[in-house]
Amino acid sequence: MRIYDIIKKKRDGGELSTDEINYFITNYTNGNIPDYQISALLMAIYFNKMNKRETLDLTKAMVNSGDKVDLSGIKGLKVDKHSTGGVGDTVTLILGPMIAACDVPFVKMSGRGLGHTGGTLDKLESIDGFKVELTNEEFLRNSNNINISICSQSANITPADKKLYSLRDVTATVENLSLIASSIMSKKLAIGSDAIILDVKVGSGAFMKSIDEAISLAKEMVNIGTGYRRETIALVTNMDEPLGNAIGNALEIKEAIETLKGNGPRDLYKLCLQLGSKLLVLAKRVENGESGKKLLEEKINSGEAFNKLIELVKYQDGDVNMIRNPQLLPKAKILIEVKSQKEGYIKQLNAEEVGKCALKLGSGRETMDSIIDLSAGIVLKKKVDDKVKIGETLAEIHTNNLEKGKEVEQNLGDIFKIGEKNKELKKLIYGIVTKDGIQIY
Ligand code: URA
Ligand code: CA
Repeated sequence: MRIYDIIKKKRDGGELSTDEINYFITNYTNGNIPDYQISALLMAIYFNKMNKRETLDLTKAMVNSGDKVDLSGIKGLKVDKHSTGGVGDTVTLILGPMIAACDVPFVKMSGRGLGHTGGTLDKLESIDGFKVELTNEEFLRNSNNINISICSQSANITPADKKLYSLRDVTATVENLSLIASSIMSKKLAIGSDAIILDVKVGSGAFMKSIDEAISLAKEMVNIGTGYRRETIALVTNMDEPLGNAIGNALEIKEAIETLKGNGPRDLYKLCLQLGSKLLVLAKRVENGESGKKLLEEKINSGEAFNKLIELVKYQDGDVNMIRNPQLLPKAKILIEVKSQKEGYIKQLNAEEVGKCALKLGSGRETMDSIIDLSAGIVLKKKVDDKVKIGETLAEIHTNNLEKGKEVEQNLGDIFKIGEKNKELKKLIYGIVTKDGIQIY
């Protein structure tokens, strides 16, 4: 087999065989095929696309390029959740404890933030001592003992994806559904959970800007998961404005604590209930979504979900006092309130722009090795469709850098679009994609 012939075949619109896909993934991962040939192949895939079979084979080849995490030592049906990335997306920190409190093992390998989107591992590191790197033994032991474990992905999972993703990033070949879907799903499938729920974000703060695109991506990923015989469903959800009120690491931990105590922002809690009830059905813990929601609400009201967060923190060597008393979490020295200059309704609050403001304050990384200010971030006091008067607070800026804080104050003032009431109220969830089809809400 020659890589030249594979490139030519895809260039001319052909369908690659399973062997051809395995060949290029194996040999690229090993360093036997140079970047320039794979760049050409990626561009051919970008233009001529891959069909379902090719996409599934590509995913399988990527899963097989590295280590797999065997979860068969954990009792019961294991569930995993993945979001395609957003601003203020605190869901994992709330959903995980809620699900674990229902005696369903929630096992997740998470990532760090990049660009304007946050990452669960960074958020967890605002808790003193919290260990995000676990050995496989610790990961399995914690999952068995307390039904929850959230850690970083070990080094040799899907090495093919790591190389391909870096190459796509610099060759303008990221935006292809088969390439995105196989990249995301290979990382999920290398970890042997039984059921996967995908939260596909759409809107200004997301990767997918239109609902149609998001549904296509959701379909592609559900196809792959189903092809792997894993129960996989996807919700397509709104990321036009940030999720919840807090954006920033320690601020989001505080928001997670409040939500687990039943006092969280409505949109965030509602999304957790939706995702959670569907996960409980997939895990065969309940018969339908309604009973799932009821069970989850019970776990919030009884305090069991909050106690799960305490257990998670304790098992991963974090300081539980910070969870019991969130005042102890890292706190910024300066607090600036952004005041409204106008009266009316919030029409728009661009998530990506708000994410960039949080990034400027130091809550994320400008480059891979920037140092994060765990205490920095933004707390929104008004969201889309809320009414506001002149002089009312739109948002709080938490910062240790007055100059940057002032800059962000200006920016946020412009990002809040205020005017007449929107004709159509915003939607939180646009639809659901399962192996049986698409349902639009
Ligand atoms: N996230 C990934 O992991 N891969 C992609 O290709 C896009 C987003
Ligand atoms: Ca949030």
